[in-house]
Amino acid sequence: MLKVISAIVLILFTSPAVRSAEPRTGEEILKASKCQMCHKMTAPEAGAEIDTTGPPNLRFVGDRRQQDWMVKFLKKEIDNNGMKHKVIFKGSSEDLAILTGWLASLKQPIAKGDSLAPVVTPAPSGK
Ligand code: HEC
Repeated sequence: MLKVISAIVLILFTSPAVRSAEPRTGEEILKASKCQMCHKMTAPEAGAEIDTTGPPNLRFVGDRRQQDWMVKFLKKEIDNNGMKHKVIFKGSSEDLAILTGWLASLKQPIAKGDSLAPVVTPAPSGK
């Protein structure tokens, strides 16, 4: 056990190249954090009815939210229209950065205004 701990400590304090020996993607962190218990991540079929009730679909969340906002929101430091997020992110700030960086990159590939573009929950005012 001690050996394992010292190995982890060693990895944490050595170069970033070594640290990424155990890479984690935003998607892996999302799954491990059980975000999908509440959030859909799939693009709706073209032409399908879009369910805009309940927790927002995060498939194209990058169209409405910036990484900085998500970091603060997931740490419950800021509100969304007077409401804090339901759950606080319990992982490391490094994981939160990877997760929100990935989420911010999720943008609709189809030009806005295209009739086939899936409609997603609009961001409430206040950024
Ligand atoms: C218990 C259910 C629940 C869980 C689990 C949950 N969320 Fe949420 N989340 C919500 C609800 C409900 C909202 C919308 C209302 C609000 O602002 O709180 C929301 C809003 C968001 C938003 C803003 C979306 C938008 O369209 O503006 C982001 C980003 C987000 N959640 C990310 C996450 C991430 C990442 C996780 C996993 C670490 C997660 N959520 C886990 C319920 C949940």
